[in-house]
Amino acid sequence: MKKNKTLGEFIIEKQAEFKYSSGELSKLINAIRLAAKVVNHEVNKAGLVDIIGASGDTNIQGEDQQKLDVMANEKFIQTLSNREIVCGIASEEEDDFITINSHDQNHQNKYVVLIDPLDGSSNIDVNVSVGTIFSIYRRITPIGTPVTMADFLQPGRNQVAAGYVVYGTSTMLVYTTGHGVNGFTLNPAIGTFYLSHPNMQFPENGNIYSVNEGNYIHFPQGVKDYIKYCQAEEDNRPYTSRYIGSLVSDFHRNMIKGGIYLYPKSSKSQNGKLRLLYECNPMAFIAEQANGKASDGFGRILDIQPDELHQRTPFFCGSTKMVDKLEEFMVKSHI
Ligand code: AHG
Ligand code: MN
Ligand code: MN
Repeated sequence: MKKNKTLGEFIIEKQAEFKYSSGELSKLINAIRLAAKVVNHEVNKAGLVDIIGASGDTNIQGEDQQKLDVMANEKFIQTLSNREIVCGIASEEEDDFITINSHDQNHQNKYVVLIDPLDGSSNIDVNVSVGTIFSIYRRITPIGTPVTMADFLQPGRNQVAAGYVVYGTSTMLVYTTGHGVNGFTLNPAIGTFYLSHPNMQFPENGNIYSVNEGNYIHFPQGVKDYIKYCQAEEDNRPYTSRYIGSLVSDFHRNMIKGGIYLYPKSSKSQNGKLRLLYECNPMAFIAEQANGKASDGFGRILDIQPDELHQRTPFFCGSTKMVDKLEEFMVKSHI
């Protein structure tokens, strides 16, 4: 039987491809692999918490059960902080960025990581897929000094790696270092990720659109027109509508089957809902590396110059031809 490559083997094999090939980025991906396994274990137990709690023998330490997004945040931060590679972390769950090794002037840590530790958290209570999203940059300030905001506020095109974990019917880690996108599936029996989806690609076109249509009346005219186009009885339309409400899972499905994900601005939220730095940029990098496209409706997500850690942006991402079409409608509605 053909033996599938493990993620560990893959990381070592690909190390030479990195622009700065010192093995540090490999160590960083390894840290994420480890944190993903721990969080996966916790997420899988989520439904049991009440049952175990009722039996009265949980919480040996007498601690209250943490919310899973707080737990995931802690696990990722702990794992990433301990390896002398990362000099700063920004997270959806933290107001400010975290500085690592600020007192050790000899440290050589070069990378900053931005994470959404648990994406789709409203789906946890109902046993629906959730995820983790991460984005990695090289710092721009001198090594050995404390990180500054400028290290985090880089345009997405500067990312050196990005990826996500989807805790679904099976758990997968999907990532890119700028040389295509590869997906690894966890074998939970032995705790090893195997290369299951080499060289993932968005189909150029698709027939799935994913949007929270409950907000329809608040959408910009261009988005409303595009949705009507998706629903029209013409060519190979109407498209089919699929919306999980976890960006990671909606994106993952669309990358495999072909589709577009839309989170527009609305009259309620002027910049939409999704966060540029740890939701849209990493997904945009993966999309482009998989022959897809990511736009704010008028331009490339990866070219946006961020000015705030938690800033939001409208987000349209998926099969290139579908995102092109959406942009056409956006421009038309602005003329
Ligand atoms: P998070 O759980 O990290 O706050 O992210 C939730 C995001 C994203 O995953 C999802 O696509 C979107 O919110 C869903 O928003 P709506 O409920 O407004 O559709
Ligand atoms: Mn999220
Ligand atoms: Mn989150």
